[in-house]
Amino acid sequence: MSDSDEDDNIFKTGGIFANRELVRVGHVPDLERVVGRDDEVSAIGQALGPATVGGPPESTIIYGKTGTGKSLVARCVSREAHFEAQANDISFQQAYVDCSDYQTDAKASREMARKLVASLDADIDVPRVGIGAADYRDITWDLLEEYNINSLVVILDEIDKLDDDELLRSLSRARESGKAETHVGAICISNKIEYRERLSERIDSSLQENELVFDPYDAGQLRAILDNRTDAFEPDVLEHDVIPKVAALSAKEHGDARKAIDTLYEAGRLAEKQGTETVTVSHVDDAVQRAEVNRFEKLVRGTTPHVKYILRALALLTVDNPAQEAFRTHQIYTLYLKVAEQAGADPLSEDRVYRLLKEQSFLGVTDSNHTGGGQGEGSYLEHRLLRDPDVVIQAIDGSATGGAP
Ligand SMILES: Nc1ncnc2c1ncn2[C@@H]1O[C@H](COP(=O)(O)OP(=O)(O)OP(=O)(O)O)[C@@H](O)[C@H]1O
Ligand SMILES: [Mg+2]
Repeated sequence: MSDSDEDDNIFKTGGIFANRELVRVGHVPDLERVVGRDDEVSAIGQALGPATVGGPPESTIIYGKTGTGKSLVARCVSREAHFEAQANDISFQQAYVDCSDYQTDAKASREMARKLVASLDADIDVPRVGIGAADYRDITWDLLEEYNINSLVVILDEIDKLDDDELLRSLSRARESGKAETHVGAICISNKIEYRERLSERIDSSLQENELVFDPYDAGQLRAILDNRTDAFEPDVLEHDVIPKVAALSAKEHGDARKAIDTLYEAGRLAEKQGTETVTVSHVDDAVQRAEVNRFEKLVRGTTPHVKYILRALALLTVDNPAQEAFRTHQIYTLYLKVAEQAGADPLSEDRVYRLLKEQSFLGVTDSNHTGGGQGEGSYLEHRLLRDPDVVIQAIDGSATGGAP
């Protein structure tokens, strides 16, 4: 322990964050903080609009890549619809079901019932086992009747994870089959565009009244999203070029708001750890590199030591020969022998290493190509590293010690 009083607090958090939660993954902000999705917000608003005055909601299907705001917009707009209906003396309920957590018909139906019980504050216990999906749905229909609910909107997030369509079918028929007097609608969400056709073949047209596609965010939108969260940080802590940099990098790479927010958070954490007064673009660069290392480390952790030696050899060759793009198996093998020896391991044969290189193209980390040799040489295989060699080396080191420094 240090002998200065100021350093005695082991829980010291530094002067970087004012409200860390705003940049944490999983935080669901208010509708006012949702930026750059005005058209999507109003499309869902229009679909739910009738239900706020006692009519039937229209169902909507939302597609789009990860981090494009699908879950956020669906949840915020239905929460808003609930308040709007309340102001009109209409009882509008919503139930959010994340199907990646509840992948069977029974589990998802139970979750729907539980959500409804919770928001009505009803005094009933939804059994965990012993009853089937249809029984859970009956609990739901009974509740709707007992509490005189005008409309129910069920958000089925990550619906492609659900193993069948029964829940969806019964939602679309609840009223016509006389199970519920309530108007029932669904918002179905998926980040698998391929799912679109499968879904439309299988389900009722009444569930496909509206279809929305959320595009990846561009740099301007990401900037607005991040600007809207600067109060996560203490005043004057973020240097002026930090957010534009995160937005530009994220737009170029993926257009994913979740990752962009996370990068900003990680940059802040690095500044905090280093005890600096401001967050700079170099913290952003480090945060991006660290995220890459972490992702890569997870991949590498599942591989055998020899795969790691081979990858290290290829990464070292790439660093040492900036002018050369790809390397022959034999060249890699020569260095691999040294790496394996240093690690105290018995090396594999060259043929085995050749096959490992060829077989896997290492998890998308390398690219192997046949190249014609000179005359009489025949063709040979060349391997190229597709990632930053520094990232590869750091990740291999980290995976050996159980975590990057
Ligand atoms: N328009 C936006 N305004 C403000 N914050 C946003 C916006 N879009 C996304 N975010 C933030 O990014 C995070 C990711 O968004 P969201 O969870 O809605 O993505 P998604 O499209 O559902 O992704 P996935 O397909 O991976 O589930 C959210 O937690 C939210 O904080
Ligand atoms: Mg989502």
